Amino acid sequence: MEDFQKILKTKVFEIEKIIGAYLPKEEGFQRKVLEAMNYSVLAGGKRLRPMLMQETYRLFGGRGKEIEPFMAALEMIHTYSLVHDDLPAMDNDDYRRGRKTTHVVYGEAFAILAGDALLNFAFETALKAFPIQTEEPERLRVEQLLGIAKAMEVLAVKAGIYGMIGGQTADIEAEGSNSITTEQLLFIHENKTAALIQAAMMIGAILAGAGVGEVQRIEKCAYNIGIAFQIQDDILDVIGNQEELGKPIGSDEKNHKQTYVTLNGLEESKEQVQKLSEEAVQIIDSFGGDSMFLKELILSLIHRNK
Ligand code: IPE
Ligand code: IPE
Ligand code: MG
Ligand code: MG
Ligand code: MG
Repeated sequence: MEDFQKILKTKVFEIEKIIGAYLPKEEGFQRKVLEAMNYSVLAGGKRLRPMLMQETYRLFGGRGKEIEPFMAALEMIHTYSLVHDDLPAMDNDDYRRGRKTTHVVYGEAFAILAGDALLNFAFETALKAFPIQTEEPERLRVEQLLGIAKAMEVLAVKAGIYGMIGGQTADIEAEGSNSITTEQLLFIHENKTAALIQAAMMIGAILAGAGVGEVQRIEKCAYNIGIAFQIQDDILDVIGNQEELGKPIGSDEKNHKQTYVTLNGLEESKEQVQKLSEEAVQIIDSFGGDSMFLKELILSLIHRNK
């Protein structure tokens, strides 16, 4: 696709408008935590998760607006995971998305609170997808309500102890260990990273009315994208540059983390990223429909340098 980069830019711009519309106004006695929340969310980032959600929604024929609060909610959860991941007690990093990290600017207490606040506010936001304000409640369809409820469940589970938090736990616990197995590492990658990418794509599919079998195939596709994404993140932690990445390189080495790269070497890691991404694209292809941009997006992640 010739103008992939141009389309990507336009889509990021549209997504940022949607996210921005759901962020809290910085006012009241709790203003400081609201500022810290907005500071981290508005710092930029690739907006990959809301984009994957929107593209998957469209792939299955979704055309409504109920996807929008979910896009914002997932980016809030992702951003909270980064704010906490950067804390001195975790990876202890000072830069994120090209800016000083939240704890450096607002202090540790407010970074903890901003993370907590983003997590809770994400659910307040996603709940807005329920058309409970409608003046014609008799016109609400049961399937629509069930879809939103199911999407809420996916969001909650994939962010929790059987998802992202579970992965972060295993990641921190494995620090300093020099005997981590491939199985352990895949558990970490699947949960700390793939889970939120699965949430993105599954929610897109569910809200568009995809069937159970289709959602399962999307879950597998997003697993591949997520594992590839984290392997590439580990690669960039070694050979990337801070200017482009917007976050420090060498964080994993500093924290004595075993990664896909320390376990399998750079070349094998790069091959895995390619292989997993191509498999993901094959799954997308199996659905038919217009998925040109989505496939380009997945393939573009293979050679990403930020
Ligand atoms: C960083 O995610 C954390 C990982 C799961 C590797 P992203 O690389 O998507 O970060 P942003 O949102 O673009 O800043
Ligand atoms: C973190 O993985 C994934 C999260 C759930 C935040 P990393 O610790 O490798 O992410 P970066 O490299 O700091 O973005
Ligand atoms: Mg980490
Ligand atoms: Mg980190
Ligand atoms: Mg990393």
